[in-house]
Amino acid sequence: MAKVLLLAGDGIGPEIAAEAKLALERLAPGVEVEEALIGAAAIRATGSPLPDETVAAAHAATAVLKGPVGDPEFDAADVRPEQGLLKLRAELDAYANLRPSVQGDVDLLIVRELVGGLYFGARGVREDGTVFDTCEYHPDQVERIVRRGFALAEGRRGRLTSVDKANVLDTSRLWRRVVDRVAPEYPDVQVEHMLVDNAAMQLATSPEQFDVIVTENMFGDILSDLAAAVTGGLGLAPSASLSDSGPGIFEPVHGSAPDIAGRGIANPAAMLRSTALLLEHGLGLYDEGRALARAVDAALALAPTPDLGGSATTAELGAKVREQLEVEARP
Ligand code: IPM
Ligand code: MG
Repeated sequence: MAKVLLLAGDGIGPEIAAEAKLALERLAPGVEVEEALIGAAAIRATGSPLPDETVAAAHAATAVLKGPVGDPEFDAADVRPEQGLLKLRAELDAYANLRPSVQGDVDLLIVRELVGGLYFGARGVREDGTVFDTCEYHPDQVERIVRRGFALAEGRRGRLTSVDKANVLDTSRLWRRVVDRVAPEYPDVQVEHMLVDNAAMQLATSPEQFDVIVTENMFGDILSDLAAAVTGGLGLAPSASLSDSGPGIFEPVHGSAPDIAGRGIANPAAMLRSTALLLEHGLGLYDEGRALARAVDAALALAPTPDLGGSATTAELGAKVREQLEVEARP
């Protein structure tokens, strides 16, 4: 039987995860949902942001559905909630992070490398007090994500924008060389290189020009928040983090929003859309995934949450989504 590991996470995580669980139970009643700890909640309970039991449960799962992690209480601590998330991504080798943004005439997909670069390079403190993080990429690490980008572009509008900082960084020059080397194998894809600062401006001013954007970890982190902001806001943006085999991680792009946690007003749409991606890509339940995505769209129009200028609570939007699933299921 397929098994979903639900990691509710921190801040608004438990509130939005509850709605995701209800939607999942409705759409995939045969799927077992197991819960485990990650992030600040896990540090409080066990001292570790990713306890061994969570790692084992993730490896044993068909797919992982994850809420946001992070808590200001640990901002200055050595052991931080985010470390649990980074370790989980590395453990599952979930290197291909797909972050779609769709609104109006914008339909773009950011393909972010997720287990390399600055997030995972050597870091430390020198004797004189200098602190350093390093950005490292092996050519194979670049090639596998770039190939994902090309393959995804092939199945869409056939345009790939590779984003780097090749006018400054050696890792970016490697990135460009790899893109140019594999490009002839994808003759149906039109590829362009774009510097990341320019890409940020282009995303802010004319996001409709993009189809697929492929980029390294840190650039992808920043650009995906920007893409979300210009297509309806962070409350709506889902993501899928996939490996070549084994369970993927499905999680909203947004953070744990501690400022509104516990008030029942967080928008669960990004978490529900991540659940739709999980149904589709994690469990192979295409019709159910599409139905959930459509129900979320319809529900958002009927019961917008405060971040969208409305007044629906987390639970009200969740209920509206389930109501829309019923409406759709009616003959
Ligand atoms: C994201 C988040 C994470 C990241 C944080 C919480 C570590 O911002 O998924 O975009 O930087 O990858
Ligand atoms: Mg981010």
